[in-house]
Amino acid sequence: MSIDKLIAENQPESFAFTKESEAQIKKILAKYPKDRAASAVMPLLDLAQRQHDNWIPMKAIEEIANRLDMAEIRVLEVASFYTMYNLKPVGKFFLQACTTTPCMLRGSDDMMRCIKDRLDIASGETSECGNFSLLEVECLGACVNAPILQVNDDFYEDLDYETTGALLDSLEAGEPLPVGSVKGRQGSESEQGATSLTALKSSAQEV
Ligand code: FES
Repeated sequence: MSIDKLIAENQPESFAFTKESEAQIKKILAKYPKDRAASAVMPLLDLAQRQHDNWIPMKAIEEIANRLDMAEIRVLEVASFYTMYNLKPVGKFFLQACTTTPCMLRGSDDMMRCIKDRLDIASGETSECGNFSLLEVECLGACVNAPILQVNDDFYEDLDYETTGALLDSLEAGEPLPVGSVKGRQGSESEQGATSLTALKSSAQEV
């Protein structure tokens, strides 16, 4: 995709980190040697995004480049490579849907179909109401509870067509479902409950 399509057409004329962000930046920069300040590019992009309605304007790219003594294009390369950074406005709920093989085998097609049916959006689009944006992404690192839908910072797991609909309803109603497995799995336990070390537990109890 060309960079023009990734960047918002309407850009703000300025960007400045807030006082709170400045305090965070100080802590972040302290973690790196002075001549390796560029290593802080990802956390600074994250800070900029969080204080600017979940997207990063070009003025923030400029600001970060100046702070870290980097070429603007280098900062933009990072921001445009990782799907967690948005270079154009997104809805209040930013949905990142994983469709990589484990999620696909566990039903991510049904999850995507539900989003399409309910919100009429495809990857890269925002719903008519403006509340939901969807992005199809690669593995989110939670394959064992696939399929996964990330909503802003939260992971919803074990989704199917019905539970994806229930999740969207709950977000719309302002009462989001509990984060994690919609089947109530704890961590990454088996759907059948504990299946290993159970014998070990009973023999240990006998001792
Ligand atoms: S494949 Fe979807 S979380 Fe890993």
